[in-house]
Amino acid sequence: MNKKIGIVTGGGDCPGLNAVIRAVAKAAAKRGWETFGILGGYEGLLEPRRFIPLDYNALSGLLVRGGTILGTANRGKFSAKVGHGESRGLPKELLDDTRRGMDALGISALVSIGGDGSLSIAQQMHEHGIPIVGVPKTIDNDLECTVMTFGFDSAVACATDALDRLHTTAESHNRVMVLEVMGRYAGWIALYAGVAGGADVILLPEIPFTYESICNKITEREGLGKKFTLVVVAEGAREKGHDFVTSGGQEANREARLGGIGAVVTAELEKRTGKEARVCVLGHLQRGGSPTTFDRALCTMFGAHAVELIAAGKFGTMVAYLGSQVGSVNISEAVGRLKTVRPDGSLARTARALGISLGD
Ligand code: F6P
Repeated sequence: MNKKIGIVTGGGDCPGLNAVIRAVAKAAAKRGWETFGILGGYEGLLEPRRFIPLDYNALSGLLVRGGTILGTANRGKFSAKVGHGESRGLPKELLDDTRRGMDALGISALVSIGGDGSLSIAQQMHEHGIPIVGVPKTIDNDLECTVMTFGFDSAVACATDALDRLHTTAESHNRVMVLEVMGRYAGWIALYAGVAGGADVILLPEIPFTYESICNKITEREGLGKKFTLVVVAEGAREKGHDFVTSGGQEANREARLGGIGAVVTAELEKRTGKEARVCVLGHLQRGGSPTTFDRALCTMFGAHAVELIAAGKFGTMVAYLGSQVGSVNISEAVGRLKTVRPDGSLARTARALGISLGD
């Protein structure tokens, strides 16, 4: 059967998007299907339609290439995410136009690769009768119903490498070094990288912190002869009783742009302890570059399984990493609420067991 499927990448980019695209196109080709890449997110399905055929030659080198060859968007007509667990309903006309776009291109099913925002849109499309399956992407690892999203392991590897580098300079100068990492509502990157990179203090969005607590840790270390302290702070972390630190103004229908908490914490710790402190903001470095080995394998399993879901007609589902297997869940179960760090979960307890301060 000659079937055409379309792939859309949406939301913030991350390592592994191209690896998923490659896996979908290869697994589809094995079934004799054609794959089209929709350019610039879902908007590529609207007039003027923008797409590329993903034939054999288009797939070379994609396994290791960062970003997305299709382009992506986290703003515009299809922006659905406005806050933690809040999403916007799309107008019926837009969903009709999307359907028309698919029909015009002869596409019978879509693979939507995205995080909570893009998959909330995928759910609305499914409810509108558009055949669609999802693939969970985000460096933040905050999507429910999958043990891990792809991109997360690569971001953690980047943050851990940064901590290793900051460790030696902190130690050489007897300084407090603060690393600000991404993690809007969920502190998975900060927690995993902090534990893997030997941080002394890890500040998460889920656990509001006090400066007294951080300073106590610094003093305790000084007493043990450790004249430096390594702090990891997620961009969404906040002092008890205070709000997020944002950078840039609020745009309509968009989440607030976070950033700056690292500098705030650094200045306050310098003031309170009298120790020299420096901040390093890792920012979008965490979203670039090649995926790790784990992410390459996960992306390839996700892409191949998305094609199986289409073949089985299981629309409205999302591929999910279930621990040792890749399976699927309903998109509706995965969106609308975020998977945040449990303060009493294994990794948080491990951190505390080792004497790492979580700032509370
Ligand atoms: O959701 C992924 C993420 O990297 C967040 O950690 C971060 O807050 C946001 O995207 C940044 O988005 P932008 O690229 O629009 O600055």
